[in-house]
Amino acid sequence: MEKIAVVTGGSEGIGEAAARALAADGWKVYVAARSVDKLEKIAEEIGGVAVELDVTSQESVDALAAQLEHVDLLVNNAGGARGLDYLRDADLDDWQWMYDVNVVGLVRVTKALYPKLIESEGLIINLGSIAGFTPYVGGSGYNAAKHGVRALTRAMRLEEVANPVRITEIDPGRVKTDFSVKRFKGDEDRANQVYDGKLNLTAEDVAEAIRWVASLPVHVNIDTMNIMPRDQA
Ligand SMILES: NC(=O)c1ccc[n+]([C@@H]2O[C@H](COP(=O)([O-])OP(=O)(O)OC[C@H]3O[C@@H](n4cnc5c(N)ncnc54)[C@H](OP(=O)(O)O)[C@@H]3O)[C@@H](O)[C@H]2O)c1
Repeated sequence: MEKIAVVTGGSEGIGEAAARALAADGWKVYVAARSVDKLEKIAEEIGGVAVELDVTSQESVDALAAQLEHVDLLVNNAGGARGLDYLRDADLDDWQWMYDVNVVGLVRVTKALYPKLIESEGLIINLGSIAGFTPYVGGSGYNAAKHGVRALTRAMRLEEVANPVRITEIDPGRVKTDFSVKRFKGDEDRANQVYDGKLNLTAEDVAEAIRWVASLPVHVNIDTMNIMPRDQA
């Protein structure tokens, strides 16, 4: 049977690179996000399927689940950061966005696809972050969300240990994508300062880890993987 993967946040960055790497490894990839034009181009190039998906909408997630007969791999990648404010100045709309997408969105998609993942002895890969291990100044909203991803991934791994489903968390350090442009709401100069003069990971570096984890036999569970550029520790 064809191996089916769903990659959320597949329209750019790490998700797009993961979709391409998985397709090159023989997976049929459902590339899912909100930017349909980008998804259609990617899906056409990799022989996959473009799916309009907003992980914050139950209706949208249900529609994704309804169009899948089976699923072998779910890459919960949709996410990101908004703002770099001290907590005392927190923009609560930014905090809400970060929690809704990174945490609740991940749970919503996982719940919807769980029965199919169990049926296929499948694999769930959650994109955490080094921000889920190490808080930093101005990071409290994103730190809290990615600590949340780590906590729920660890709890789910324990809950499902006797069931035929594998659960992996991949925690990158600094990856050069549009992540920071979005975090700083379009301020490219500020975003560039995050990466300039540093050895940054590429989206492809993280995608290769996702591809490798997904290539392992069903009795092997990679629990957690930290991936950093050499000059970040
Ligand atoms: N870049 C880094 O340094 C870094 C480091 C560690 C962890 N991460 C994590 O890795 C993941 C990918 O980040 P990235 O760097 O590739 O960022 P990115 O280039 O900004 O990509 C984010 C993706 O998430 C999607 N997305 C956002 N809101 C969504 C929603 N409501 N429903 C569905 N999809 C949504 C976006 O697609 P649409 O806008 O088309 O919906 C986009 O495809 C995130 O979880 C991020 O927190 C990133």
